[in-house]
Amino acid sequence: MTHPLLRETEDMDVYTAIRGRRSVTLLAEDTPDRAVLERVLRASVWAPNHHMTEPWRFHVLTGDARQAMGNAVAAQLEQNLDPADTAAAAAARQARTRLLRAPVVIVVSQVGSDDPVLDLEDYAAACCATQNLLLAAHAEGLATKWRTGDMCDYPGAKEFLGLPPSHRIVAYLYVGYPSPKLGPDQRERAPAQIAWLGWDAA
Ligand SMILES: Cc1cc2nc3c(=O)[nH]c(=O)nc-3n(C[C@H](O)[C@H](O)[C@H](O)COP(=O)(O)O)c2cc1C
Repeated sequence: MTHPLLRETEDMDVYTAIRGRRSVTLLAEDTPDRAVLERVLRASVWAPNHHMTEPWRFHVLTGDARQAMGNAVAAQLEQNLDPADTAAAAAARQARTRLLRAPVVIVVSQVGSDDPVLDLEDYAAACCATQNLLLAAHAEGLATKWRTGDMCDYPGAKEFLGLPPSHRIVAYLYVGYPSPKLGPDQRERAPAQIAWLGWDAA
């Protein structure tokens, strides 16, 4: 079934996908089809990856799972809360509801390594996979936003997902359809700063 907000995006070329993808904050309530998400996730892993460690992992949350994760993270934060620390209390409250901002949240994580070089390279590979995911999602007419922040570091988040502390949460990808209330995108990019070395003068 074609979603009403789904644009005609079949066979989008890569330049169009790169240029057209934008972070979208305002999402409609409709949940994207699992088949579409599977397609996007399968595409994401065709990322460059030194030593082929394939360090990426994905958790795809929807419905009650988002609230369950929020509750688990918040409960963990509240356990050690100093009642006088109003900022910490606010952070816990936010953690409880934060994942409800999108109908689907994909948590991208990376298998950590004790070797700092490998760890950095695997983080880079996981970021490449994440960008693949965002571009494929865009080509499917989905709207996304990559979010990080405290939610990546809260121990309760990894615990809920069954990830060991050595893994790194790379991204919370908020995924849905763009809200009809979305205004025009006015963000621009500065031109790429390029040094051409060894080229004949143009
Ligand atoms: C590693 C990373 C972390 C990000 N974390 C956040 C975040 O926590 N909150 C947020 O609103 N946007 C976050 N973003 C999205 C950027 O704000 C966004 O990509 C940037 O404004 C450029 O806009 P565009 O994605 O539409 O090109 C993150 C992006 C990256 C790559």
